[in-house]
Amino acid sequence: MIDIEKCRITHYPASVLAGRAQPVEKVDDTIRRLVEKMTDIMLEHKGIGLAGPQAGVPLRIFIISPDSTRENVKVYINPTVTPTGGLEAIEEGCLSVPGVYTKIRRYKKCKVAATDLDGNEFSQEAEGLLARALQHEYDHIEGTTIANKMGSVAKIAHRKQLKKLKEQHEERETE
Ligand code: NI
Repeated sequence: MIDIEKCRITHYPASVLAGRAQPVEKVDDTIRRLVEKMTDIMLEHKGIGLAGPQAGVPLRIFIISPDSTRENVKVYINPTVTPTGGLEAIEEGCLSVPGVYTKIRRYKKCKVAATDLDGNEFSQEAEGLLARALQHEYDHIEGTTIANKMGSVAKIAHRKQLKKLKEQHEERETE
């Protein structure tokens, strides 16, 4: 049972961000309400994507809106993302790893197959920002964030911010 009211942005190194999320079994009103809540959270923090674990819900679902508007939110339920083409390293951030912008190597293109909010399957080919966002959000439901994915040099460069996030996490745990 998902308590939508309790959904809020989760930050690295919360355990919900580190585990493999579970498949959505049925696209019902609870899932539709979850998407509304995830959209609110994403827009409040001016993001272009948000995955279930980032709202504290370990389900295989994410939303993407490349221009960060409500109208253009697209929902991906139980997605599979297949990368194609070459790799490129571009700076990116994550609402769950605030204060960190770092170059991440990702494929330039990808294919995605998923279920939409009406329960229908669809597939899509993506490139550019959308391809990058799809791979980023897919990482989230597989339990990976940019904090885990960044190289050792970037980890050293961002060590203060990562340490701060860990300390904030420990403070929340002991509240
Ligand atoms: Ni993210």
